[in-house]
This record gives sequence, C-alpha cells and structure tokens, in this order.
Amino acid sequence: MALASPKRKTTTATKKTAKSTSSKKATALPKGQLPVKELEKEERKETKMKLKILLVASECSPYAKVGGLADMIFSLSRSLAKLEHEVKVIIPFYSVIDKSLYNIRFLGSACVHMGCNCEHWIGLHEASLDGNIPLWLVEYADYFNRRGIYDESGREYTDNAYRFGMFSKAVLEICKEMGWIPDIFHVNDWQTSLLSVFLKIWPNLLSPFKKSASLLTIHNICYQGKYDAMVLPYLGIDWKLFTADTFEDYGQINLLKAGIVYSDFITTVSPTYAKEILEPIGGAGLSEILRKRADTLMGILNGVDMKVWNPKIDPLIPVNYDKTDLKGKLLCKEALQEKFGLRKAPNIPIVGMVSRLHVQKGISLLKSILKEALATEDFQFVLLGEGEKEFEDFFRTLSMEFSGKAASFIGFSEELAHLIFAGSDFFLMPSLYEPCGLGQLYAQIYGTVPIARATGGIVDSVLDIRQDSSGTGFLFHQPEATALLEVLKTALGLWKNNPQLIQTARINGMGKNFSWEESAKKYEEIYTKIVQKKYSSITSHNPHNPYLSASLFP
Ligand code: ADP
Ligand code: GLC
Repeated sequence: MALASPKRKTTTATKKTAKSTSSKKATALPKGQLPVKELEKEERKETKMKLKILLVASECSPYAKVGGLADMIFSLSRSLAKLEHEVKVIIPFYSVIDKSLYNIRFLGSACVHMGCNCEHWIGLHEASLDGNIPLWLVEYADYFNRRGIYDESGREYTDNAYRFGMFSKAVLEICKEMGWIPDIFHVNDWQTSLLSVFLKIWPNLLSPFKKSASLLTIHNICYQGKYDAMVLPYLGIDWKLFTADTFEDYGQINLLKAGIVYSDFITTVSPTYAKEILEPIGGAGLSEILRKRADTLMGILNGVDMKVWNPKIDPLIPVNYDKTDLKGKLLCKEALQEKFGLRKAPNIPIVGMVSRLHVQKGISLLKSILKEALATEDFQFVLLGEGEKEFEDFFRTLSMEFSGKAASFIGFSEELAHLIFAGSDFFLMPSLYEPCGLGQLYAQIYGTVPIARATGGIVDSVLDIRQDSSGTGFLFHQPEATALLEVLKTALGLWKNNPQLIQTARINGMGKNFSWEESAKKYEEIYTKIVQKKYSSITSHNPHNPYLSASLFP
C-alpha cells in the first residue's frame, strides 16, 4: 500500500494550532505538547494515504456519455487527482467513441478467463482525462462495437449481463497484468458492481487484490441489472451464491443487489436520496438489503465541474458572462431563440429542458399539461432530449403545433445542452425521482432558475425563493400534473409581476458553490477508512502473511 510521506505540520502551523487552543483554554501545556484533540488531528494528518484509486464505470465524459454518470466520473477523477491521489478511470472502448478527437494509444492485450472455460482476448488502450489522468479503454469488438452503449433504437441489448460482466472481470485481469493494484476499486451502478463480487471471491490467499477495497456508488437504484440466471456459469459464479441474500431476485439475478452485498462501502449521489432508498418505495425492492448495510451507506452530493460548466469560460456558448454582468446571458438567449426558430423576444421567458426522455424525468406529467400551458401562458419552451419513442413523438408534434413558441431537438448534443443552460430563463425538471440531478445544478450556475420537483438531490440543492430570500428556484412537491402546472404558472406570473424576485433567484443561483472539492474529500475519507479497515483485518488475521508485504505483481 502506498503511504504518502507523513505530512508534518510546519512550525508555523503547529504554533498557530497551539496558540488558538491555548487562547480558548487557560491550561498551560508543557512545551511542545499538544492537547489530545490536536494530537489526534496530527495523527490523522500523518496517516493521510496517497491512494491508488480506479474509477470503474460504463461512461465517462467526454468520451462516452448517456447521462450524469459520465460527468460525475470525469469530475470526481479530476478532484481526486487534485487531492494528490493516483487516479485512473476505466471504461469499455465503445465504437461510438470518436477516435479522431482523442490521442489514444494501444497498450497491449490480455486474456480474460470467464467461467465455462471461456476466454476472451481483450485489447487495452490508454487515453487521458484533463491531460494527466489515465483513461483505460477496454476493447472487445463483439461486445462494444455497437451503435449504442446500453441499447439501440430504444431496445436494451439482451446480452448486457455478459458484456458488463466480462468488462468487470477484465478490469481485474488488466490491473493484475499491468502490475497496478488499486487500493480502491470505485465501481458505479449495476454495470460494474460485479467487480466487488469478483474481488471477494477471487481465491483468497493468492489474490493480488487482498488489500484492495471496493466502494459502490448507486446513481440510480431503479436500474438494477436483472437478468436470466443462466449467465452465472459464464460469469464463473457458483450456483450456491444464487440465494435471496446475494444474487437471486424473484428467480433472476440482480447485479446491483450483489454489488450492495459484496462492496465494502456504498454511496449514493445525494443525502436525501440515501434516505429515500432505505424506504420501500424509493428502494425499488432493495430497501431491505440496503437497511442491512445502513452503517456503510452514505449520500454524497455530486458537484459541478467548473472547468466545463461555467458561463464565464464556457467555449460552447456564444457569449460568456458572470453574475456581475448578465448582458452575455441575454445574447445567449437571443442565440437560443435563433437556433431553435423561436420568436426573438427578450421579454418572453424561455423555459428550457435538457433531459433523457424517460418516465423518471416526469415527462408524463409534463406531457399532460404542456399544451394547456403553452396555449394560455406567455412563454417559450425549448427541449433537448432523447429516449422513449412516445415522448420523442410528443415533442416533435408539439413543435409543429406551437411553431415559434415551442421547439425541440430530439437527439444528443453537448453544444446545444450548454446553449440551453445559458440561454434559458427557467430550467424545468419535474422528476418523479432524482438521485442527484446535475441539470438543476448546471442551471443555477448559468443563472437559469430551476422549476423542479422536490425529490432526491433536488431537495439538497434547490431552495424555493418563495420561502427564503436566499432561494434559487421553484419547487413543487406532489408528483402530479396539476402541481406542476401550478408552479409553472406561478413562476411565469412572477416573471411578469415581480421580476426582481426572479432576478434575485438567478443571482443567488449563480453564487452557489457546487464545486467538487468538498464531495471529493468525503470520498477520500471513506476510501481511507475502508482501506485501513481492510488492512487491519488482514494483518490481524495473519500478521506473517508474506503476501501482505509485497505485491505479487510489482
Ligand atoms: P441523468 O443522469 O439521470 O440523465 P442528470 O441531471 O444527472 O440526469 O444528468 C444529465 C446529464 O446529461 C447532463 O449533463 C445533461 O446536460 C446531459 N444530457 C441529457 N440529455 C442530453 C441530450 N439529449 N444531449 C446532451 N446532453 C444531455
Ligand atoms: C443518474 C441519476 C442522476 C444523477 C446521475 C449522476 O443518472 O439519475 O440523478 O445525477 O446519475 O450521479
């Protein structure tokens, strides 16, 4: 395990601490001695570990992105690297990754041994994130040379358990082959949660990963990876694990559930969602198993990567701006209206949306009120999204029915997303549930006032301006169309009758600090704790174990 050289406080720092403590307490300390609390702090500092962290995921911005998971992996990796850890990210090498945009080099190949004597030769490639964080890309044409990441034309690939199961195993083989043994495997969602299982069932004594710990982040508990159990032999997992307290779920296997059972720690992406998933409705069938792990479950709010999502420097928007001068935002609004063929009118509010078109996002609620709202209220509506065909069709016809007033782009476009966040006045997010939600965070930073449902991470990041003068948005509570219509009308009414209030919400939002710094420190704390726990459990078990002192694959 890599221990950073102990960081001792400088003389000045020590003096400062002693001084501030002594000013609180009159008790004199012998020269050079610190009070117990300070000593503990000192010890903690001394044991700060420089960790090898591997973020294992199915998406990573800007290479392969379907939703917020990709952004989270990218920005967490950057923030952890800033904390001086050795960080790498690994994802599949999908053929949808545009190779012409990146500098990618081939590192070598490795054999992945699955169950049933099945072997796959995979290729390992390396690119980089932010210029200095290695991104490993796992190539296996049969599984990843496809037109989609998880699905195609709205249909999920039927072999996803095979694809991501093999990927999870490949990650371990690669680390072994490369002689790079992470202290932490940070896995994400069902696609990679199997890695935590493999880590634990790898033949124990000889395992090069004996000292590695795993952390699973649940980004969305409604996607669990439930598949036919017949995949178990391929995964090399014994049928004896096909029980209700590990893999089995109503006759199928449940990969997320297994990840929850086998990971050393579990996080989810906001404190409120961490509470919601412990309840039967929020837990989508997994609340009971999660409650058993409640002492190793924590919600950590995602942040905003201010290098990518920042109106002051964003290269994807026509004019940059900040809260001290919003002229640029008005020009972005004009550009948005032009791009989407809307009437150029600075005084008409634009309600924007960038979203996967899925039930989770409250699209059904919106569908039932949007036409009425557009017919009766004075606003423009812009949407960027793709997903379920029924919803895509709805927005296509809406644009025709309300030409010049409502427009949509069905598809995926990073550039348009930035333009909508910058050019809109309100950002609509009527989610039925929302583990974290990045949309409402980006909107606030871009001075676009969220109109959102109070659920999950939205509760932790948006305060209603009607309740608090430091508020940044408008919230509705009941997951009902009438509640959505009401809040939309209220916000639009205030735009007309109390523009100062809207301006206050806008400026408050732009002043929020959603930086990753604090959240990354929370991850760091958990990583350190579970690595230390793992280390002490193996040393206490067998202090003379030769495999502890040196890696088998240096
Ligand atoms: P989720 O991950 O559930 O989709 P989030 O709000 O966490 O929701 O993250 C959504 C991310 O995906 C944001 O970065 C948003 O800009 C982006 N996004 C969603 N749909 C599209 C799209 N059609 N085109 C471009 N970006 C999109
Ligand atoms: C999931 C969630 C979303 C969250 C994102 C990143 O896609 O639906 O709420 O922001 O993951 O963690």
